[in-house]
Amino acid sequence: MVDNRTELATLFQRNADRPFDVLAYGDPNIDYVFEAARVPLADEKLLGRRLGTFAGGTVANVASAASRLGARVAAYGRVGGDADGQLLLTANEEAGVSNAFLRVVEQSTAAATIIVDAAGEKALVYAPMSGEAVDEPIVSAALRQSRLLYTMPYDLAEFRQITALAHAHGVAVAIDIEAAVAPTRERLDALLECSDIVFMNEGGFRATLDGEITVETIRPLLDKGPQLIVVTMGAAGAIACSRAAWAEHPAFPVKMVDATGAGDCFNGAFLAACFNDRTLRESLVFACAAASIAVSAVGARTALPTTREVEGLILNHSAGRT
Ligand SMILES: Nc1ncnc2c1ncn2[C@@H]1O[C@H](COP(=O)(O)OP(=O)(O)OP(=O)(O)O)[C@@H](O)[C@H]1O
Ligand SMILES: [Mg+2]
Repeated sequence: MVDNRTELATLFQRNADRPFDVLAYGDPNIDYVFEAARVPLADEKLLGRRLGTFAGGTVANVASAASRLGARVAAYGRVGGDADGQLLLTANEEAGVSNAFLRVVEQSTAAATIIVDAAGEKALVYAPMSGEAVDEPIVSAALRQSRLLYTMPYDLAEFRQITALAHAHGVAVAIDIEAAVAPTRERLDALLECSDIVFMNEGGFRATLDGEITVETIRPLLDKGPQLIVVTMGAAGAIACSRAAWAEHPAFPVKMVDATGAGDCFNGAFLAACFNDRTLRESLVFACAAASIAVSAVGARTALPTTREVEGLILNHSAGRT
């Protein structure tokens, strides 16, 4: 199958004069992570161990990964005027993500308490910030300075509103779909219709689609609208599919420590690679390698790699195979 650079160029080479490649749309959050033998029952107190306090939030994780790998990224969303909010602002600065469109508001910052049990299973309580109407002038101002909008579309009405604005400003729309985002086929189709690039994990695929995850089962989804669909399958790797090309790649074998944020690193790396004029296959390999490095430490952003580290892993791997 041909790998078509020209096809990707229609998505990734336009509006190069804008300051940001990616506008990461969504509130970041703080993860408070604990380890315990099991998840406590009602009225029960268990002794455990604190694993750490981490900057998180799926969209913000993608922003950090893409930025570390060379994309110019701005965050769009809110944090509270509290210590958690400050931590998130600082984490963005350290990753090179612009806070120009991240507003500090009078609310508590979004946070999650996560309990990891002895089997590595997680239970979590997530407290988002309260919803608010889309501020069209502010979103438009951010979109005019961006080339691609990335989000996880929980709210369909809001998503339709921002994609209409994005497309009006010549901004491509990329989304991440997991099971909770598209629990019905109707919802999935509605999301596909508004999107140019769709990332989906195995849970997102299996929630509404039948059969094995292969190019044959993915490709028909392109008829709904997107130009590019990428499905990730954990340790089994990923498949990327456009109209003119497709590629699949296994995960790089690594010692997995914490898979949280693997998909986020993958998505950020894939976008950074596409903006760097890599082909579909090259971008897929790059993203698989980046994500495999990210799972080697606790915390979604702890082990986000640099381009040099990703390229080093790819080189070592291909040297090992020859
Ligand atoms: N155990 C692993 N070893 C190596 N690479 C992995 C492993 N798990 C995931 N990856 C890499 O990360 C990519 C994304 O993983 P996955 O499909 O689990 O995403 P996800 O379900 O969205 O994850 P998340 O929990 O972060 O949302 C995979 O395609 C693979 O390249
Ligand atoms: Mg994911």
